[in-house]
Amino acid sequence: MSKKIFSGVQPTGNLHLGNYLGAIKNFVELSKDKKNQCIFCVVDLHSITTKQDPKKLRDNIYETVASFIASGIDPKKNIIFNQSRVPAHSEAAWILSCVARMGWLNRMTQFKEKAGKDKEKASVGLYSYPILMAADILLYDATHVPVGDDQKQHLELSRDIAQKFNNEFKVENFFKTPDPLIQKDFSRIMSLKDGLKKMSKSDSSDASRINLTDNKDQIINKIKKAKTDTFPMPKDTEELKSRPEARNLISIYSSLTNTKIDQNIEILSGKNFSEFKESLSQVLVDKIEPITKEIKKLLNDRSYIEQILDEGSKKANEIASKKIKEIHKIVGF
Ligand code: TYM
Repeated sequence: MSKKIFSGVQPTGNLHLGNYLGAIKNFVELSKDKKNQCIFCVVDLHSITTKQDPKKLRDNIYETVASFIASGIDPKKNIIFNQSRVPAHSEAAWILSCVARMGWLNRMTQFKEKAGKDKEKASVGLYSYPILMAADILLYDATHVPVGDDQKQHLELSRDIAQKFNNEFKVENFFKTPDPLIQKDFSRIMSLKDGLKKMSKSDSSDASRINLTDNKDQIINKIKKAKTDTFPMPKDTEELKSRPEARNLISIYSSLTNTKIDQNIEILSGKNFSEFKESLSQVLVDKIEPITKEIKKLLNDRSYIEQILDEGSKKANEIASKKIKEIHKIVGF
């Protein structure tokens, strides 16, 4: 079956291994299937829900595009663009904010985590952020949305918004209800310093994550220092339940080598961590180093990236502006 794929990544600093294994690796695989129509968006509008330095933001937009291409997304066969160049996103977000209910947004756990204790000081944009995400997806009639586990709740909200709009305006199936595509075992890559915390750009410790721009020595060092427990490698998957750091490192290894976690446990069982960490560093370096080099190369030619964004946003605009016109009619404008 052909799928309409849409996904987005925020340009808020270095992309890391969590973004890569949880989302971008899947983007690449989906984009290689000729039956799929894929749209990948650098969600710069989302990124300003928290404070950004304008110069850095611009650099990060280029870097995110470079990371997509360096990871293996072909910009000729897929649409790559940044959200702010397609005005329909902001417009649809406003219209959908009149459909979404406060009660729905109040349940969003990511807002609670990001706003922290001082909710009153969080931007209104941070609160209504999932509505813009719904607009992104629904404007393109996306059927499938590849994301990490942390975005699952936002996708459920997108489905609720789509259904409420369709029901309220009696336009059956106008907005498609998108399905999340979440990688079963690799949907939540954890911090290298704490197996119970998500690997994240916002973690103050750089050693907690592998960045797609890290060089070989940085990768080896971070894996050497990654937290583990004092026991040898686990005997079975059951044991992983109580050993989050071991589970995380074995998951990373399995995802990078496209192998099964239980098979790897059989091979690794009883060995010590330092031996395993050497193999893990090796597969990480083999996978990440070529991407890092390609990102650097691409960033030397900004006009090439600019051209991709230009072409991508033209194509995205064609699709989104048609949909927003239909939305206007339905709503009564
Ligand atoms: P963002 O920019 O935080 O993350 C980009 C993608 O990376 C995934 N991810 C992870 N996956 C596994 N383990 C981790 N530690 C990890 N950290 C991040 C995220 O789940 C995501 O798939 N709201 C989105 C961006 C967005 C979007 C959209 C996504 C805006 N509009 C429409 C899909 C469709 C976000 O902030 O992702």
